[in-house]
Amino acid sequence: MTDVLKLEQVTKRFGGLTAVGDVTFTIKEGEIFGLIGPNGAGKTTIFNLITAVYTLTEGKISFYGEQIAEADPYGPGFVNGIKRRFAWKPLKPFQIAEKGITRTFQNIRLFKKLTTFENVLTACHRSANYSLFESILPRRIPIINYVLPWSKTLWREETELRKKTEELLKLMGLWDYRDMVAANLPYGLQRKLEIARALALDPKLLLLDEPAAGMNPEETLALMDLIRRIRDDFGLTVLIIEHHMDLIMGLCDKIFVLNFGKALAEGTPAQVQNNPKVVEAYLGSAEEEAKDGEEAGEGDAADA
Ligand SMILES: Nc1ncnc2c1ncn2[C@@H]1O[C@H](COP(=O)(O)OP(=O)(O)OP(=O)(O)O)[C@@H](O)[C@H]1O
Ligand SMILES: [Mg+2]
Repeated sequence: MTDVLKLEQVTKRFGGLTAVGDVTFTIKEGEIFGLIGPNGAGKTTIFNLITAVYTLTEGKISFYGEQIAEADPYGPGFVNGIKRRFAWKPLKPFQIAEKGITRTFQNIRLFKKLTTFENVLTACHRSANYSLFESILPRRIPIINYVLPWSKTLWREETELRKKTEELLKLMGLWDYRDMVAANLPYGLQRKLEIARALALDPKLLLLDEPAAGMNPEETLALMDLIRRIRDDFGLTVLIIEHHMDLIMGLCDKIFVLNFGKALAEGTPAQVQNNPKVVEAYLGSAEEEAKDGEEAGEGDAADA
């Protein structure tokens, strides 16, 4: 199977804090790959490194064999400390999206005042080769078609984009909410709308940062099926961060566990679940919490 995304000795430091330290993993084509770890483990930082929101402190990242990020200790435009006009420059986030990596955010980012339909349509325009302004030009007025002959073609393209928007909204179960302003959607649907927007950009690799956050167990299960369907229908590879263990264990082909920025374990869901280090990192804290809870409970009982 083809390697889609490869992280090699990836490190990110913020001043004295190593948010991600020496992380190496490879995601194969068609895989649903889980990235898990306790709060502050560095998961979102890894997404920000892949999507060029942050630059690497060390290491490199490649996508379908092409290098998309590399550590440059001297800053952009330098090779071995010498300024070079044609040195490799870090890509910008929109260039990463153009290469076929799109994402959703842990803290939802939508056009809050636009409708559900408009939110997806604007994303569709980003992958089309004309501007939003051109898309709103009236096109079926003969005089305009005469003065601007290309406007007819644009109208056809616009119709196709609207069709694509409709299909994406139907797939995500958002069609009934198409005229609702994004800010008024329930939290779970806003997360789905973010996925629709990410899909509108025609990705090859989809990054999902806690897509089930704020969803109830039922919605989480439905989301799991949906992600699998998206992977199959769109022929995608998926990298997903989640705290819902049921979702991760039931959905992923492979899982990578981070703890304090470092690799703790990697393998199939079964291998990871039975790894003593993982059990300690997760269940250890869960047991402590339970103990704390019990103690607090005893205190309450005593008070009563
Ligand atoms: N821009 C930044 N500047 C300084 N420190 C940062 C920055 N971004 C992240 N960090 C730190 O890096 C560490 C990892 O953060 P990150 O957001 O990647 O964790 P996470 O695994 O996504 O956690 P969570 O499960 O809570 O979302 C944290 O200690 C965080 O405070
Ligand atoms: Mg995070």
